[in-house]
Amino acid sequence: MGAQKRTATGKTLGDFDEYAKDYRRVHNESLAITGADSDFFSEQKVRVVRGIEADKDGSLLDLGCGDGNSARFFRQHFPYWKYAGVDTSDLSIEIAKARAVDGAEFVHYDGDRIPHADKLFDVVFAACVFHHIDPSAHIDVLGEIRRVLQPGGRFYLFEHNPLNPLTRRAVSTCPFDEDAVLLRAGYTRKMLRTSGFQEIEIGYTVFFPNYRIFRGLHALEPFLKWLPAGGQYYARAVVSE
Ligand SMILES: C[S@@+](CC[C@H](N)C(=O)[O-])C[C@H]1O[C@@H](n2cnc3c(N)ncnc32)[C@H](O)[C@@H]1O
Repeated sequence: MGAQKRTATGKTLGDFDEYAKDYRRVHNESLAITGADSDFFSEQKVRVVRGIEADKDGSLLDLGCGDGNSARFFRQHFPYWKYAGVDTSDLSIEIAKARAVDGAEFVHYDGDRIPHADKLFDVVFAACVFHHIDPSAHIDVLGEIRRVLQPGGRFYLFEHNPLNPLTRRAVSTCPFDEDAVLLRAGYTRKMLRTSGFQEIEIGYTVFFPNYRIFRGLHALEPFLKWLPAGGQYYARAVVSE
């Protein structure tokens, strides 16, 4: 990870510009032991959200969207939704824009104020972003997420599960995870509660590697979401009406 950048209010920011062009190749290399690639994990998270959210219409903010890899999966699984992505890495946002996913909008975020109006979104989604945010800034960022969510809006936060040894190994070999501070699910629940979110649910995911002999077991994953052994987990939380 390159030199540490700071926001106008002094929050430290990891510099993903350094990895933006090569992000998917580097990510694929660090995922090799799982038998899955970067696209598999991007789509798997969108599928989890799709399993909970109805596909009528709505608006979604992808916070820390990186190079916009999830946008095409949101377009596919939520064809009627508006999709917007923000990221603190300028270069990632440029790459995301160049991928030109139908109707997707990408804007740079300064790490202090999300560049969108209050109460604009039904859903905010943040995949593997919070472990790159300085823990001292978590509550501020959650305040911003609450600001842009409508009353009744839902926040989905996906994180690596530090209790899973395979996950820890993948993180330890991934160059852009050098600054990562993994969040235990109990910590995540507490910070969401402290920030005023309600109806907080935790679900564990990614229990089986993606090798052919395990694929038949993937259908069991929704039944295991209570088991803190999955490689990743999500937290879903609601802004009160
Ligand atoms: C591991 S990447 C994940 C990218 C994307 N969410 C995905 O799943 O493909 C983490 C991303 O978080 C971004 N990021 C880091 N700190 C951030 C912050 N404070 N606010 C928003 N994005 C941030 C980085 O620039 C990077 O693009």
